[in-house]
Amino acid sequence: MESEQERAAAVAQLKSIVGLDDKGAKDLSTKQERVADLLAFFAQHNVGESSPRDHKVMLFSVWTKVKKPVHRDPVASFVLEGKLDSTQKVDAAIKFVNASDADEVDAAAMSAECGVGVEVSEAEVENAVAAALAAEDKGTLKTKWEKNENMLLGQMRRVAALRWADVEHVRAALKKLVPELIKNVVTETAAPAASEAKEAAEAAEAAAKKDVKVCPQNADFRVVAQGLPRSPIGELPSHKEGTSLYIIGWAHRVRHQSRMSFVVLRDGSGFIQCVFDGATEPFHRESCVAIRGTLKYEPKAKSELQPPMELHVDEYAVVGPSDGAIETIITAESSVDKLYDQRHIVLRGSVAPSVMKVRHELLRAFREYFWSRKYYEVTPPTLVQTQVEGGSTLFDVLYYGEKAFLTQSSQLYLETATASMGNVYCILPSYRAEKSKTKRHLSEFTHMEAEYDVCTFEDLLNHLEDMICTVVRTVVERAGDLIAMLNPEQLINPAGNLHDPANYKFTPHRPFRRLRYSDAIKFCNANGILNTETGKPFEFGEDITDQPERAMVAKLGEFVLMTHFPAQMKSFYMQRDPEDNTLTESVDVLGPGIGEIVGGSMRMHNYEELMEAYKREGLDPSTYYWYTDQRRFGGAPHGGFGLGVERLLVWMLNLDSVKDACLFPRYMGRCKP
Ligand code: 4AD
Repeated sequence: MESEQERAAAVAQLKSIVGLDDKGAKDLSTKQERVADLLAFFAQHNVGESSPRDHKVMLFSVWTKVKKPVHRDPVASFVLEGKLDSTQKVDAAIKFVNASDADEVDAAAMSAECGVGVEVSEAEVENAVAAALAAEDKGTLKTKWEKNENMLLGQMRRVAALRWADVEHVRAALKKLVPELIKNVVTETAAPAASEAKEAAEAAEAAAKKDVKVCPQNADFRVVAQGLPRSPIGELPSHKEGTSLYIIGWAHRVRHQSRMSFVVLRDGSGFIQCVFDGATEPFHRESCVAIRGTLKYEPKAKSELQPPMELHVDEYAVVGPSDGAIETIITAESSVDKLYDQRHIVLRGSVAPSVMKVRHELLRAFREYFWSRKYYEVTPPTLVQTQVEGGSTLFDVLYYGEKAFLTQSSQLYLETATASMGNVYCILPSYRAEKSKTKRHLSEFTHMEAEYDVCTFEDLLNHLEDMICTVVRTVVERAGDLIAMLNPEQLINPAGNLHDPANYKFTPHRPFRRLRYSDAIKFCNANGILNTETGKPFEFGEDITDQPERAMVAKLGEFVLMTHFPAQMKSFYMQRDPEDNTLTESVDVLGPGIGEIVGGSMRMHNYEELMEAYKREGLDPSTYYWYTDQRRFGGAPHGGFGLGVERLLVWMLNLDSVKDACLFPRYMGRCKP
């Protein structure tokens, strides 16, 4: 363990030698090996306290972004020799080496790709800016200029001839040329005919780069479409080779070379490699791009997410440019907290949206399961004045001056609907003010709850088994490719059918192992699983908490229905076991790797018993009048359960935490973004 002093020394070195700010230095200082590697890299290149700041910034960028360590030195040498004299040149060099599998770096090719030695004079800048502005509609130009000058500056940065130009020269050229061009524009004029704009843009590009083939670009994506409807990228494989197609998506990966660009474009439905034959505007990753292109079969393009096809670009438009900062917002070095701060960026990766898509299939499968069995979906309120699962995890809300809570469970409200609607379910958020950060606790989670109008405890257990087995199979059938990608260890035969549940080790089968709480205690004690709170073997009546619960399921290696918990451990509403009044007809479904996924029980249906339970728990019966009335007017033996959607996903996808199963997780200490 490193001492506080060592940590402070590392922070000081990272600040003075590498030039990091206080926060950056502190974040990195926790990773001893990385710090040593970084400082050695700086020392090897003689960069220290007194070195120029831009060298430090560029070198740090090289160290963080170059994927293969053997590629770092050639790029660093280029920086220190002054060959890469701007951040755009350094970024281009990093991209160049990262695109190569070989250890050796071809210095000449890198020089050519990264604009080494290219100096764009002020006069050349002015000419290129003038040519680019000539393609602009004057009214639009006026609006852009008056709204935000930087918008035009950003646009110019994407003109091929200005790729290596000094940004201040571009700004000066704009300041000189634009006011003159818009001088007499009083109102917005109509945009020139699409073909005119297209010709002008092409002419400007060609003039700027006379001898280089330019991939046709148009400022207006509607012109690019040429009347074709937008094709979802995921449906491209259903078209014949040679078909002309129009797509819009986001640049997931980009590799710009001087005469060609390769871009993996993504929309919600899929990914496709797009080949730009000719120089392109060097747009950044995450730009929104429209393309009309011709489909070609290309086995080499195939990957987990991409089909064996490419779209050869006939014409494109940058619909919404992205900023180069996209490469630095999150990096391999980013802390977990930073990743959750930037969750909206993480959601543009490959893993997070894949998890969200499996989540979608899971919710869909639950709904279809219930619909096919004629259960009604209801949506109870989540702002409530009653507790369901104990007072310690209630979130208080001031509701127009009255005390209220965010609901812990919709169960009590589901029970009110069964007498007139039969079996019902809901999929809604529940809230728990959990005071700990664990892999399975959220402050807001998606609660899938069902309630049966009349049933026995045995019926309830059978329903649960049937639902879990059916739903998991359906999700595998529909999203097996994503599950196999996210959790490959579950696949029995990776070359087999990814959508066949039989090809997955985890597909649950009925009947699940049933284990009474008392037997679970005996099992833990016989297998050396201790109560982590006392450090001793369990005694009857003690809670089997997260860790021992997971250890127990890991030993059992399968789904478990743990039943008959002592009444004092469970909620007020649970029906007693007719054979032993100290126990309840309750069940937790435990899943390997995660522990409790479902909590359910039979409910007290006798009026007097329920009144007694309120008293015992110190609850004010007057606030529960609507719940109690279910017993006054036709109480029937009934039960139900609640399932944590995120916990089921952790199990299915082998996620590190329930947080990764949420679009934007809420847990202790985090309510943003
Ligand atoms: O066992 P619980 O507390 O049961 C109830 O709330 C019942 N009223 C449900 C019912 O019978 N309708 O919670 C049910 C499930 C747990 O098994 C777990 O999967 C999930 O909800 N859960 C949580 N998930 C994430 N974070 C938390 N803080 C959770 N608390 C419960």
